[in-house]
Amino acid sequence: MSKTAPSKSITPSAIKARKGGPAIVCLTSYTAPMAQLVDPHVDLILVGDSLAMTIYGMTTTVGVTQEMMIAHGRAVVGTSSHACVVVDLPFGSYEESPAQAFRTAARIMTETGCAAVKLEGGMTMAETIHFLTSRGIPVMAHIGLTPQAVNALGGYSVRGRSDVEATAIMRDAEAVAEAGAFSVVIEKTTEPLARAITERIASPTIGIGASAVCDGQILVVDDLIGLFTDFRPKFVRRYAEVAQSIEAAIVNYASDVRARRFPTPEHVFQAHSH
Ligand code: KIV
Repeated sequence: MSKTAPSKSITPSAIKARKGGPAIVCLTSYTAPMAQLVDPHVDLILVGDSLAMTIYGMTTTVGVTQEMMIAHGRAVVGTSSHACVVVDLPFGSYEESPAQAFRTAARIMTETGCAAVKLEGGMTMAETIHFLTSRGIPVMAHIGLTPQAVNALGGYSVRGRSDVEATAIMRDAEAVAEAGAFSVVIEKTTEPLARAITERIASPTIGIGASAVCDGQILVVDDLIGLFTDFRPKFVRRYAEVAQSIEAAIVNYASDVRARRFPTPEHVFQAHSH
């Protein structure tokens, strides 16, 4: 195999070809140890700009930089060998023009080695998606609730409940699919709207808070493992409560150190090994 051949087994085109087939399994990851656990079990890993909240303790994704996405993208790509790795384009790095988006996406792809980028927006981003996809950059689109627009939307409420909003989101879906998006994340919309979109467009839909009718599902991995005790969105099922295990381990460690129960001889180096 040539050194330049892609090493990932699942490509964006393979994800696109899964439309209407077996459910596409997607999760976020931001770090090497998490990517190592996630990679064998999923089809697609998203290095999401949700790292603003999960890693950096920010309140929105608006403050994420290209440097942050590149550092985490590189860690994830370097650790995964099976899943298709997609990196989010951060707010302010692509909306101005297709040329700006191309420069950012090309930088993120070359500096991380990811297979594709994700960007938020529907009809307004269709020209950009076409520009990128026709120049060799696979794009995952993201419609419905678009967290980077939180300041314009006024919050994180369900999208598409009114007829006007549902029609606009359907137009967004059609526009990004026709522009060449290899898949479309639909976030926090009603089930009937997610169903209508999934039936209408040729690209696979990946739901988060958009019901089981989508072609695949994505969650923030930290949410499903219970890394946060106080964040419990309706659309997440918790498969573990790791925050409790981590806290118990820390409490036990602190108590052992204070009582001089740790370290014990098995953890100690002597002058001569036996
Ligand atoms: O940033 C992110 O993690 C995302 C997913 C929630 C789809 O965009």
